[in-house]
Amino acid sequence: MDLMEKLVSLCKRRGFIFPSSEIYGGLNGCWDYGPLGVELKRNIKNVWWHDMVVGHDDLAVLPGAPSPYSMVGLDCSILMNPRVWEASGHVGGFSDPMIDCTESKKRYRADQLVVLALDVKEGPMVAFAEGDDEAQKGAEKRLAKLLKTKAPLEGLQIVPLLDVGKENFEKVVGPDVAKPGTLTEPRAFNLMFKTHVGALEDSSSVAYLRPETAQGIFVNFKNVCDTARVRIPFGIAQIGKSFRNEINPRNFTFRSREFEQMEIEFFCTAENADQWYEHWRERRYKWYVDLGLKSERLILREHCADELAHYASGCADVEYEFPFGVSELEGIANRTDFDLKQHMEYSGRDLQFFDDQIADKEKRRFVPYVIEPSAGADRATLAFLCEAYTEDEIGGEKRTVMKFHPKLAPIKVAVLPLVKKDGMPEKAAEIYRRLRKRWSVFFDDKGAIGRRYRRQDEAGTPFCVTIDGQTLDDGTVTLRDRDSTEQTRVAVDELEAQVAERINA
Ligand code: GAP
Repeated sequence: MDLMEKLVSLCKRRGFIFPSSEIYGGLNGCWDYGPLGVELKRNIKNVWWHDMVVGHDDLAVLPGAPSPYSMVGLDCSILMNPRVWEASGHVGGFSDPMIDCTESKKRYRADQLVVLALDVKEGPMVAFAEGDDEAQKGAEKRLAKLLKTKAPLEGLQIVPLLDVGKENFEKVVGPDVAKPGTLTEPRAFNLMFKTHVGALEDSSSVAYLRPETAQGIFVNFKNVCDTARVRIPFGIAQIGKSFRNEINPRNFTFRSREFEQMEIEFFCTAENADQWYEHWRERRYKWYVDLGLKSERLILREHCADELAHYASGCADVEYEFPFGVSELEGIANRTDFDLKQHMEYSGRDLQFFDDQIADKEKRRFVPYVIEPSAGADRATLAFLCEAYTEDEIGGEKRTVMKFHPKLAPIKVAVLPLVKKDGMPEKAAEIYRRLRKRWSVFFDDKGAIGRRYRRQDEAGTPFCVTIDGQTLDDGTVTLRDRDSTEQTRVAVDELEAQVAERINA
């Protein structure tokens, strides 16, 4: 099994992530977070909210920042007036080029890459692979298998589906089955999910599930300015669900149809936009490193001019080396004043910021520039899961351990009475209740102690507290560290302080 298969299997087995509505065969691109997964994802969102919003020091100048700034939060509705999406450009332009296979009814993204093997006896062959190196290798392997030979193949070309002439579709292999000459011309496929609001199902009642949380922030810009006593520069943050009818959801939760975003729209002057862009690129990159993603697996990649969205004057991706290839975790974009100006035009409302402290009266009213760090909560969760997955050997015994940063671990402490007698369960219950006031704590009194440790290692629990015979004599317990498996004796009265110190270390 490769790493991704092992991870998906562990997620299912231990209750991190399940396929959505699984008993009915699931729904492609949708996932459910189980008891451990929900805690992990919630911790990631909480740490983000703490670090970016409530724990942010509005009065301090952070390293690399031109000045102090304040941050406030927002929670907008998912359904909005459809004019929002006309103004943002999503109705007109939020689409992927799609090719249909008229026979199999399968759909392919036309910008998907294909591996094209030439000069084989049966004629040219094509295997689909989207994007990254790993996917291409997989496609090449499928071709090699079919040709009863070994990769690498002779005469291999990697080209976008769009550029493959129909004459080359003599035979298409791989999990996607398309027959020669049955692929339509590419057409724009809008990724927004459409629905109807109210009893009438006609064009007057059309609404969309939001494809990004950002627009809810732009349309509330004036509300926030009027109520929160903010001054430029400041940021508005939001965490919430977004929906995209992705043509090919894939790589576990990486590309889903329903997912959560953690977005900041940071409003500043045009003059300082470049400096703020630099600041946010660095700050967001560092956030992942501080929470345990290794910097050798993290890349901050500046987009080339031809990759930029129509609204952006600069964009960088924080990319992570997933087991299936290097892929985007978060984008940081300089969106200029595009969005606010669009909403001014479409709504007819004045969304300029008024700064009465600017001496020059002419310059007091202006449309701010926006720097947008836009992260995916599910992608971050997947990256932390991939990073945490470790197989090692302890005393000659193999184990799987999820080495989450303690701040992110779904369960912080497991409380384990060594045996179910001699007052140990009672003492353990007392400790469990005390720690539970502060953290998510798990009580387990079933089975051999070694097996109980292994279960907690797989769940990624950083600390196990064991109550044994000595506890009843001298009031100490053992505190076991997940990664080193080292055990130290700690007085029960000092336990809480010790755990707190280690979590925040
Ligand atoms: N407001 C800007 C925006 O939405 P984006 O690059 O389309 O930009 C931002 O999305 C982030 O949202 C991505 O970096 C990714 O983490 C997450 N994301 C986007 N599409 C996703 C999908 N289909 N499944 C999971 N996460 C997704």
